[in-house]
Amino acid sequence: MSGGANVPVAEQAGLPRTGEHGALSCGKALSFSKEARAELDRLLTRYPTKQAALLPTLWLAQKEWGWISREAVDAVASLLGLAPAFVWGVVTFYTMYNRAPVGKHLIQVCTSISCHLNGAEEVFHECKKRLGGLKTGETSKDGKYTVIEVECLAQCDKAPAVMVNDDDYAVITKDNLDAFLKGLG
Ligand code: FES
Repeated sequence: MSGGANVPVAEQAGLPRTGEHGALSCGKALSFSKEARAELDRLLTRYPTKQAALLPTLWLAQKEWGWISREAVDAVASLLGLAPAFVWGVVTFYTMYNRAPVGKHLIQVCTSISCHLNGAEEVFHECKKRLGGLKTGETSKDGKYTVIEVECLAQCDKAPAVMVNDDDYAVITKDNLDAFLKGLG
């Protein structure tokens, strides 16, 4: 297994860290869409405090903007009445929050032990190669693909396992990789 596992997208892509929270900036003030606000209002009824709703609110922010920028942290902090530094601390704790822009398809290749023993390293490297020689965490020029390496996806019995955005894919090998990538569109 290589040392890239569980390293956030920004670091994997070798992107600089900027801004007061250490996050990359998207360069514009952000506010949730009407639909996302409605979803947030619904969410807040299910938690005893606003702070308790932080993880799903960040998830909503990632769905809304694709990644968690410095401005997204500020927007979430302001909505929930929390300190931006606290929100940023939570963002950096969980690897499922993207701290850099990602492609339309975020391809997450598991390289933990079961997948590793079943050829995940080869799948990971071939995947980047076939998408135009991408570096880990780098997004293709057409904005369609980002490939990263992650820890166990809880699909060990179907190794090598891959996750694309929120969808699981089982037994992805060098042989079916082309068909898999083509299927993503
Ligand atoms: S080791 Fe890859 S899914 Fe568990």
